[in-house]
Amino acid sequence: MTRRIHVIGIGAGDPDYVTAEAVRALNHTQVFFAMDKGGLKDDLDDLVALRRLICERFIDGSDYRFVELPDPPRAKDGDYRQAVADWHAARARVWADAIATELDDDGVGAFLAWGDPSLYDSTLRILDAVAAHVDFDYDVIPGVTAIQALTARHRIPLNDVGEPVLITTGRQLREHGLSGTAVVMLDGECSFLGCPPQTRIWWGAYLGTPDELLAAGSVGEVGEKIAEMRAEARARHGWIMDTYLLRLR
Ligand SMILES: C[S@@+](CC[C@H](N)C(=O)[O-])C[C@H]1O[C@@H](n2cnc3c(N)ncnc32)[C@H](O)[C@@H]1O
Repeated sequence: MTRRIHVIGIGAGDPDYVTAEAVRALNHTQVFFAMDKGGLKDDLDDLVALRRLICERFIDGSDYRFVELPDPPRAKDGDYRQAVADWHAARARVWADAIATELDDDGVGAFLAWGDPSLYDSTLRILDAVAAHVDFDYDVIPGVTAIQALTARHRIPLNDVGEPVLITTGRQLREHGLSGTAVVMLDGECSFLGCPPQTRIWWGAYLGTPDELLAAGSVGEVGEKIAEMRAEARARHGWIMDTYLLRLR
């Protein structure tokens, strides 16, 4: 007898991105573990609501419950990587506690990961650390990432023929510049504006949701317009998630 955990990728916005495999795992789950917002951002309301909506839509019956996990505070000063490592370790202790107390010895729990759990998501790293505290088994159900949502909406291939693609963040783009093709995520600062004007950009915000925004062209032509759209949408919704693909050649 052992506890089981599903880490379920739920897709990056549209409930229709939920796969048949994810639906099966959702229906096996008795307890959904969710980070509470800790008063962090009201803007996460929409995302929390989507998770609940996915459960209501795809789970037959109502024989499941949510357990909110308090998020330990993260140190603001000092070394960034050390602060993240300490924060993950503290989260691992909270999660281990919850798994041990909320799940029966043969119970099934789940964490719902936005998009795919392998992409800029710490769930798998933390669960790896949880294993040091409590006995359980886990599997991973892949999901549609914001990258697939972006390329599908713009109807473009991700890579040029035989060429690599870099997946990176706004900060890395600002520090290292661009060569070839890059997908940029987690960019709060319109870092594409620092790229040469002939760089081509395919941008998408709130992908897969009714608020979806798309724009494409060269950075010189559409860069400023995207920055304006982004600022306006962010002010209107109180939050924004955007992703873009850049090609320079
Ligand atoms: C913490 S990462 C999580 C990525 C997620 N695991 C995935 O597979 O897409 C959050 C970043 O993903 C991107 N993102 C996620 N969902 C998005 C959406 N619906 N529209 C645009 N960008 C999105 C944004 O760049 C956002 O800053």
